[in-house]
Formats: sequence, structure tokens, C-alpha cells
Amino acid sequence: MDRLLIRGGTPLRGRVKVNGSKNAALPIIAAALLTGDRVIIEEVPDLLDVRTMIAVLEGLGTAVDYHPEGGRLRVVSGDPPLAAPHARLVSRMRASFLILGPLLARKKEVSLPLPGGCAIGTRPVDLHLKGLAAMGAEFAIVNGAVVGRTAGLRGAQIYLDFPSVGATENIMMAATLACGTTILENAATEPEIVDLANFLNSMGASVVGAGTPRIRIEGVSALGGTRYSIIPDRIEAGTLLLAGIITGGDLIVENVLPDHLKALKAKLMEAGAIVEEVGPAAMRAAANGLTAAVDLKTAPYPGFSTDLQPQFMALLALSGGIGTITETIFENRFRHIEGLNRMGAQIQVEGRRAIVRGQPSLSGAPVIAPDLRGAAALLLAGLAAGGETELCGLEHLWRGYGRLEERLASLGARIELVSEESEWAMQTGG
Ligand code: UD1
Repeated sequence: MDRLLIRGGTPLRGRVKVNGSKNAALPIIAAALLTGDRVIIEEVPDLLDVRTMIAVLEGLGTAVDYHPEGGRLRVVSGDPPLAAPHARLVSRMRASFLILGPLLARKKEVSLPLPGGCAIGTRPVDLHLKGLAAMGAEFAIVNGAVVGRTAGLRGAQIYLDFPSVGATENIMMAATLACGTTILENAATEPEIVDLANFLNSMGASVVGAGTPRIRIEGVSALGGTRYSIIPDRIEAGTLLLAGIITGGDLIVENVLPDHLKALKAKLMEAGAIVEEVGPAAMRAAANGLTAAVDLKTAPYPGFSTDLQPQFMALLALSGGIGTITETIFENRFRHIEGLNRMGAQIQVEGRRAIVRGQPSLSGAPVIAPDLRGAAALLLAGLAAGGETELCGLEHLWRGYGRLEERLASLGARIELVSEESEWAMQTGG
């Protein structure tokens, strides 16, 4: 079992570069299935989730060539019909469901396992199915899988009851090859939706309005190959900015789009930290004495991202007062609290609200990552805590952060990855 050993208390200083966005890469890789031509995607981060999506595409018979060092991915799905997806592989990651729209549009039939309950709530896919049904697909649930068929997708007027990121992406991708015009209302407005729309347009699609709640997609008869570069990961950027502040350090985070981080910046400034843009694609974050307690609520973009909520909670755990965090997107996204409290935090949950009583210090402890962003929260707390923190459950962290421990170490963090093999070698003297 791999573990991270973190000796906290060192202020992080220096410059660090953000990788390409995971949540943009996953739908864009799925969207490469919309053409048989060659698609080249750049700035693809080397993450477990990306590797899973690549394996899903390979399982369909698609030729994928990935060079992680350069972040370059080549996909050729070709003209022969794509094979059926591997159920076991697809059920490993919820984002695999993003191949539903492209497969329906290209193959007219598909069978995918239901993502089902996962660590951060029930996360249904009803909005994906309702939208695609309005475009002429029929669905049945057979043995835990969604079986979809269509005689041919056609444009439709679709209203999403909630601006779901995944549903917006699936519908948008399917609509590019539908007959006629699709208007999607109450669509998600996340930057990753805009990136997917730009990618689709670079393949010859006609998508207008992405980034607003009303997206208009004019169906075309075919899409072609393209070369496209993915936006920087705003969640990784936010995690690094928070790492600088929680350790009392002073960091420059490069390859960020500051516009994507307005809500985080506002809350950090309200808490008294220094956060500023230093050039068009870099931000500085520094501590400025004790963090003030603030109240925050997660919300769809441009609101405060649920994907930064756990990491912000780690900062609040060390603030000089009582703050609250209300989670409105997922019903079970407080599983990091157990680990934070084990490190001396004082956090209580009342329904969807966490009440965080700031403490003067945290103390290192053995903790287990409950999920991806919870892992990042515990890592940040460990960097700030006195003594040693042992973080297990790293498969969650590797889903969304590539070589994070190396980058943190380059900023002065005392952090070490201990893998099973190295422990075995130590025990046997090998
Ligand atoms: C995406 C992100 C994830 C982020 C989330 C919210 C990717 C790969 N993942 O996940 O990191 O935390 O957006 O910003 O981009 N819902 C329904 N019915 C549906 C679909 C969703 O009720 O058909 C609910 C979910 O249960 C959840 C909420 O809507 O409570 C948000 O889900 P959604 O926006 O779809 O998130 P994902 O696309 O899964």
C-alpha cells in the first residue's frame, strides 16, 4: 500500500506550474469518438482517470497513442463500427458515462453500466437520459446497464432541471451529429464546457453559447480530425494556491486562467490572505497572518466549486474564528472531516452544513483519503500540521493530481512517497 509521509510546518515558497484540466480532458477524449479521423489532444494530464478513459476507448477498438511526458494524445477511432464497451472498465469511473452521447450519435446503440452510488453520493444520470430521449433515443435498464437505441438523433429543445456538468456534455456531444438544431436551456456554464465546445467546433461542429445557460447546437452530418490543446486545471491551481496559504508560505502558481478562480480568490481575500494576478496566466498566493473565518456555500459555476470545498475546509480548520461551509452539489461530500478532526480540527456536521471552529494548530496523524478532493484536503492539512502525517488511500489522489508530491517537494515541502516495494526493500535490506 503506497503512503505519503508528510512532515508539516514548512512554508511553501517558489513557482509551480499547473497541468492540463482533468475535467476538460475526460469529455474531450470521449468526444474524439465522434469522428473516425485522427484527433490530437495536447496538455493531457497524466492521471489515473485519464488512463482509465484511454483504456475505455481502447476497449472499443480505438487506436490511442499517449505520450504522458509531452501530454500529447492521439486518437483514431476509424470507420469500422466501434466495439461494445467493457462493463468492468466503464463501471470503475463515473466519467466513463461520457461515452454515451458520442456512441449513440455514431453507433445508434449502446449498452453502458449505470454508474450507480459512489463515494460522494448517489449521483444519478436521469438528466443525461432525459435529454438524449428528447432527441429520439430510447433507453431501458437491463441487468444494471443502460441500453440505448435510436433510429437517428434529431435536434430538440431541452431544459435541464439542474445544470449538470456531465448531462450538458453528453447532450452537447450527441447533438453535434443530430439532424437539426438542439437548444439546451439551464446548461452548466463551467469552463470545461466551453473547452469541450471549442474542441467540438474545431472538429467542424456548430456549438454557440457554451459558457452561458443557453447552448445552441446545429447538427452536422460528420465531424473531422483536429489538433487541440486543453485548458489548465482550475481545481489543481486552486489546491496549490491553498497549499501556499495554509503553510504560511508565498507561491506563484503558473499556467492558470485567473478568470476561472474568481470565487476562490474572493473567499481567500475575505479570509485575509493575499491573492493576486501576476501576469496573464499566473497568480500569487501568500498568507497574511491568521486566516479569518468565513462562511461559504458551494454552487454551480461561477459559484464556489464543490471540488475546492474540502481543501478550503482544511484552511478554515486553522482560522481564527468559527466559519461554516454549506455543500449544495453533492449530498455526501464531507467524508474528509473525519481525517481533519483526527488531526485536531473541530468540525461538526449539521445536515449539509459543516461548522468549522478554527484551531491555532493541527497535529499530524495517520489518515485515510476518502475520495479525490478529500485526499487533497488531508494532504494540505498535513503540510500545515505539526509532526508527521501518514496519508493512505493514494489511489484517490492519483485520480486527479499528477506527481503532486514531487511538485510540493520542489516548493520546500517535506513529503515522501513510500511505496510497498521500497518498504519491502528496507525490511529485507534489498
Ligand atoms: C462534474 C465533475 C466533478 C464536479 C461536478 C460538479 C467531471 C469529470 N467531473 O461531475 O469533478 O464535482 O461536475 O461540479 O467533470 N445529477 C442528477 N442527475 C443527473 C446528473 C447529475 O441529479 O443526471 C446531480 C448529481 O447527483 C449531483 C449534481 O447533479 O448531485 C451535480 O452533478 P454533475 O454536475 O452532473 O457532476 P458530474 O458531471 O458528475
